[in-house]
Amino acid sequence: MYNDNPTIAFEPKKIDESKQGDVYFDEFNKDPNAKHFYIESYGCQMNFSDSEIVASILSKAGYAPTRNMEESDLILINTCSIREKAEANVRQRLHIFNKLKKTKPAVLVGVLGCMAERLKTKFLEEEKIVDIVVGPDAYRDLPNLIAGAEEGDRGINVLLSREETYADISPLRLASNGISGFISIMRGCDNMCSFCVVPFTRGRERSRNPFTIVAEATDLVNRGFKEVTLLGQNVDSFKWENPETKEIVNFAQLLEMVALIHPDLRVRFSTSHPKDITDEVLHTIAKHENLCNYIHLPVQSGNSRVLKLMNRTYDRKWYEERVEAIYRIIPDCAISSDFITGFCTETEEEHQDSLSIIRQSKYTMSYMFFYSERPGTLAARKYEDDIPLAVKKRRLAEVVQVQSEVSHQHNLNDVGKTFKILVEGDSKKSDQDFKGRTGTNKMTIFKKKPGVKPGDYVFVKVTGTTSATLLGEIIEQ
Ligand code: SAH
Ligand code: SF4
Ligand code: F3S
Repeated sequence: MYNDNPTIAFEPKKIDESKQGDVYFDEFNKDPNAKHFYIESYGCQMNFSDSEIVASILSKAGYAPTRNMEESDLILINTCSIREKAEANVRQRLHIFNKLKKTKPAVLVGVLGCMAERLKTKFLEEEKIVDIVVGPDAYRDLPNLIAGAEEGDRGINVLLSREETYADISPLRLASNGISGFISIMRGCDNMCSFCVVPFTRGRERSRNPFTIVAEATDLVNRGFKEVTLLGQNVDSFKWENPETKEIVNFAQLLEMVALIHPDLRVRFSTSHPKDITDEVLHTIAKHENLCNYIHLPVQSGNSRVLKLMNRTYDRKWYEERVEAIYRIIPDCAISSDFITGFCTETEEEHQDSLSIIRQSKYTMSYMFFYSERPGTLAARKYEDDIPLAVKKRRLAEVVQVQSEVSHQHNLNDVGKTFKILVEGDSKKSDQDFKGRTGTNKMTIFKKKPGVKPGDYVFVKVTGTTSATLLGEIIEQ
């Protein structure tokens, strides 16, 4: 069956408001006279992580968060530009905000993030209800822009920076379950994949001071968190030079620094670029039990000619070698991927190569998209978007189908095995069951047991599987 909205990681995903701030709401500004802000986040995890930085900045400027849009004085939307559909969703939300603004004219509307950066002043021209437009590197200027907007000015700051990493800002965990937290370790991207808008919306790549990363992770551990995910568009190219000693910290070393904070802290990371993932990183993962055996290694296409047009800078052979190295050095590792179907000039045979690499790499899952041309990117300037939409969608359906078969087989192979699982909370379907993930990032459902609570580790024996999740029972706690 074709699914118009296939497995999606980076398409708009609204913060689950029922959870928003449940754990850490009391950390926010509690001044009874404080104004309130309401924030919605779309796009990738980096955007969600940025919203937590924005919340921190606003809290210091006298604003308290609210889950209720009607009650707010300031509505913010943190936007994504990765595909046309992501932008269309933002426009729809702006119409909803517009309705509210008609009944409450004093409320301010701010657009943040990648779409703000891409459209710049055009946003103010196109969407009359928008009061402020702020790009990803300019969030420190928010209080200033808001003050101006309160006086009736429409403000914009979309300056990109070569240095900004918000290293000193302690994010306010807006949507946290109190168990898992995200930490941005770098910003921007220098890769220039021809289809991708991110280098234009997020600017140059820069790595954050690793000692501030360790401090943030340690703080989370002290507050009872059990899992951190280190975020960047290309984490394997993390590179920080100590300005005094000139010593370099690379990604493998950073992973080790974070792994050593506490043996009970699970460490995940995303995203790895196939051209940059080194054996040193793989050996580091193999060495530390708390570095999860799971690597998100987006291939985009299984065909070398298409990869060249995409400017991914690796070919199929290189990718296959990296996958072999992962399974050799970390035999139990799970690998997941991203795919784009119907990229410019892709033939049917080349599309078949994407299907075969799913089987060959044995991905546990993939995020799959059809190509969406983005204005200003290399591909938009150089190549014709010549694959008809119906063909792009049919190829996407085929990729989705093969991936679901491979995922299912992978899950079947797990039946009978025992995994250490971090309990995350009640399963969606039943409050008699818990959910939690394996180190390999597979969601697992199992019956509750007295004495076991969210945040605990348990050993679960897998007894069965549905297409996307494992089913099991606790054998040891
Ligand atoms: N930095 C990550 C990807 C970030 S964007 C990496 O290099 O892997 C997330 C995913 O969105 C990409 O992996 C790609 O599969 C998809 N994507 C990016 N631009 C796209 C476009 N123009 N059309 C369709 N999908 C796109
Ligand atoms: Fe985009 Fe490529 Fe950078 Fe990923 S590595 S963010 S796909 S340019
Ligand atoms: Fe979207 Fe920007 Fe992330 S374009 S995917 S929110 S970096």
